[in-house]
Amino acid sequence: MKKIRVLFVCLGNICRSPLAEAIFNHKLRQTNFHHLVEADSCGTSNYHIGESPDPRTIANAKKNGVSIEHSGRQFDPSDFERFDFILAMDRSNLNNIMKVSGSDRYVAKVALMRNYDPKTQGGDVPDPYYGGEAGFEEVFSILDRSVDELLSHIERSLLHGKA
Ligand code: 4NP
Repeated sequence: MKKIRVLFVCLGNICRSPLAEAIFNHKLRQTNFHHLVEADSCGTSNYHIGESPDPRTIANAKKNGVSIEHSGRQFDPSDFERFDFILAMDRSNLNNIMKVSGSDRYVAKVALMRNYDPKTQGGDVPDPYYGGEAGFEEVFSILDRSVDELLSHIERSLLHGKA
């Protein structure tokens, strides 16, 4: 069976998207469909290629019981074919992804991460890079609940035979 592939995208790929990937993998491992799904993350910028996640992201994830390991990479046009869900952390990331695409061909695959937020749908996951610890904690709780909803959506898709 073809795996469902999920790509989380932010600007730098050191704060929000590697955390989304880590929370997703943490929760995915506890499901009975973990072998059918794969996740990755990347940034729209080239600022932090090859770098580990921000130490504040790692510390915050650890505090919440999630381990995080990732090497920064930039979004690549081949990702449009490789992934089934391309989830942008904010509108600016979404616009940048669509610019790379240059057409509407992949529009159905690309969405905002917070379309899956059960509390406030369609907003941005705020960029915590220039802020303090509270911002990292807020990002964690937004992603935590949004990933739950995303996994439920994927589980339903698997049950109904479509991604
Ligand atoms: P991220 O946060 O997009 O969540 O990884 C940022 C990381 C780095 C920068 C901006 C945002 N930066 O400007 O270097």
